[in-house]
Amino acid sequence: MSATSIPHQRPEGAWRGVVEEYRGYLSLPVDAPAISLREGNTPLVPALHAGRGADLHFKIEGQNPTGSFKDRGMAVAVSGAVAEGARFLVCASTGNTSASAAAYAARAGLPALLAVPAGEGAVAKGKLAQALAFGARLVLVRGNFDQALAAVRALAGARPDAALVNSVNPLRLEGQKTGAFEVVEQLGDAPDWLCIPVGNAGNISAYWRGFCEYRQAGRARRVPRLIGAQAAGAAPLVSGAPVDHPQTLASAIRIGRPASAHLARAAVAEADGHFLAVDDAAILAAYRFLARQEGIFCEPASAAAVAGFWAAQDAGLITEGQRVVCVLTGNGLKDPDRAVAESDPPLEAEATPQALTAVLPPELQG
Ligand code: F0G
Repeated sequence: MSATSIPHQRPEGAWRGVVEEYRGYLSLPVDAPAISLREGNTPLVPALHAGRGADLHFKIEGQNPTGSFKDRGMAVAVSGAVAEGARFLVCASTGNTSASAAAYAARAGLPALLAVPAGEGAVAKGKLAQALAFGARLVLVRGNFDQALAAVRALAGARPDAALVNSVNPLRLEGQKTGAFEVVEQLGDAPDWLCIPVGNAGNISAYWRGFCEYRQAGRARRVPRLIGAQAAGAAPLVSGAPVDHPQTLASAIRIGRPASAHLARAAVAEADGHFLAVDDAAILAAYRFLARQEGIFCEPASAAAVAGFWAAQDAGLITEGQRVVCVLTGNGLKDPDRAVAESDPPLEAEATPQALTAVLPPELQG
């Protein structure tokens, strides 16, 4: 693929999903079936205004089948689980992993046991709706994500017939590294920087692996530097210490003890990158900017990537003209309550043209 084909997506209909497209790069048993919803092949959209002098692109992972990047890893993990004869799937989640696990469980004809934190705002409503719609066993556990993950890890350790599909399952990272493959294919090479939100720290580790493997294979000339963006109230990789009571409105990344912290630290060190903390106000500013100035509706955790990008510019790390990719990990529809809370309420009018015209802004009256 040449560098002139920016941005590129495989033609509709030709795309078979990440297991079949990238099987040669995945450490998956050769006889594993492809449990697929045609995930991957997501758009890389150039920024209009958010770049502030950088050549910024958004990887729109919210266009995956269940609306988040998790589908890449889940397709591979569930394909592996079926190959190994697992009788059920289990995971802990802040919402997206559980939504994805529920969908791929349905696809594979397996039951899924999903443990998510209980409590108002702990998991965005759209994600709960997905898990329920797919018919999974959704359990609201008394505890935060870190505690739920400890519980399901112990359960899976005692049950050889269970497939744990959190990102501690190596096949999850195998699948998620395909996001990096696509970025390289879409740009013709790796960008200068990749900015990505960090919660349980699997995805940043997976992207790094993907970039390194593509360089190794001669598909890319270089690897990017990494910015791992954490919410300020849940930033153990920035502070260097676990957080017992993580707090942020970006519930997807409300995680205090990232399971893949060691991998993420190694990745950021090798990439000459940085972990940066972004507070909730900065996350919301990015969230609103993306929707209103770019026409891109992502969830708050995803907007943290852009808040991190801006913070890296302000810190002088990312400079004029550099090529940057922000990974927008999840669709804005996942969290309808946040969208409504951040917006003006709808207007009301009689069903007449006059009444509708009257609610136009002043400059459009008459
Ligand atoms: N963005 C979104 C929308 C997420 O859902 C997550 C993680 C992340 C970023 C961070 O990725 O954990 O690999 O560092 N969500 C997990 C879940 C924890 O359960 O859905 P990570």
